[in-house]
Amino acid sequence: RVPHVTMCVSCPDFEKAAKAVLPRKSYIYASTSANTGLSLKSNVDDWGRINFRPRVMRNVGNVDTRRAILGHSSPYPFYISPMGTMGALHAEAEPEMVRGAVRKGSHMVVSTASSRTPEQIMQSFEEEQKKLQDASSTQLFFQFYMPVDRNKAIKLIHMVKMLGYKGLWITVDTPVLGKRTADRYLQAEELLAVGMQEDSTAEWEAGGENAYAPAMGGRVVSGQLSPHTTWEDLKWIRKEWDGPIVLKGIQCAEDAKLAYQYGCEGILLSNHGGRQIHTAPSSLMTLLEIRTYCPEVLGKLEIFLDGGLRDGSDVLKALCLGATAVGVGRPYLYALAAYGTQGVERCTDVLAEELATGMHLLGITSLDQVRPNMVNATRLLNE
Ligand code: FNR
Repeated sequence: RVPHVTMCVSCPDFEKAAKAVLPRKSYIYASTSANTGLSLKSNVDDWGRINFRPRVMRNVGNVDTRRAILGHSSPYPFYISPMGTMGALHAEAEPEMVRGAVRKGSHMVVSTASSRTPEQIMQSFEEEQKKLQDASSTQLFFQFYMPVDRNKAIKLIHMVKMLGYKGLWITVDTPVLGKRTADRYLQAEELLAVGMQEDSTAEWEAGGENAYAPAMGGRVVSGQLSPHTTWEDLKWIRKEWDGPIVLKGIQCAEDAKLAYQYGCEGILLSNHGGRQIHTAPSSLMTLLEIRTYCPEVLGKLEIFLDGGLRDGSDVLKALCLGATAVGVGRPYLYALAAYGTQGVERCTDVLAEELATGMHLLGITSLDQVRPNMVNATRLLNE
């Protein structure tokens, strides 16, 4: 039923393949978005609403797609976004994703809400590295959900530091879980099927991203994500963690500025793949807002963004506008679900090839040459 992996020639193909193999519940977990789904839709659509301004006759024989992420060089300016509960999509879960990353040298951010512990994931990373003749450039970073209990938070920070994760990516857009509409339908359907009431206390799991999280010591539900976090918390976190800190989920210029004032090394413009606040700005809109209202942070912080990137050309547009690198989420998850490691490698190849072709056609040979005037965003801004 699943097409051969080579039949996946662009990112949307992985979703079709995954849909064919996954139990409905798992597919809903990956694909669900908040409320009416508008944020998810604008994430994807906005990339198509800005155009390149290609230059021609520029001797573009060889192109170089390398970029450094927080000082760690990568063959690509994109990485695998943190996504929880990969066990809902593939029996080997995060270790399988990590193996695919290592084989291609791409960086990956590991979720707090993973189906495996940070130790298990790091171990599979190290084992895969050993199998390779030439060392892979892959590095693992850690995505941190702030638990309510500060002692638990400190323990987790120390553990990931000791294990060798290279950066702490603190997710700041999730004081509570957004309303995941497809999950709600599924929940209602399951309750109806067993003749229960909506207010039943029966245990129910939608396979949601926080259904199982050994890293935080068990199930993580809304109530266990701290809604009390403030900018001041960065001060004590900084004392426990001496590596780079990236804030994941920045959605306006004011917060980008604050992140700089609080000494973060990076910000990740993201609306959590359209899963959190309804009608969030796409990360592209947030980037354009920052360019207008606080362009000074672009040179001072590493700027990451994610959401709706489905083609290497989208990656290139983000870089032209000042992003250091971008995260890709669902395409990798679908690739993992349908093909395991092979799919993860293929997804990287597809994006890398599209990116390289885009560079040739745009008239540049290295990512050092990207400039804002290589894209035209007026249509998006004037609509
Ligand atoms: C996520 N995302 C996410 N983010 C995070 O900080 N911690 C997490 O545990 C998760 N879990 C998660 C699960 C699933 C199934 C999805 C789809 C997403 C958000 C993720 O890191 C990223 O922001 C988006 O997925 C990027 O959008 P695209 O590429 O999926 O459109």
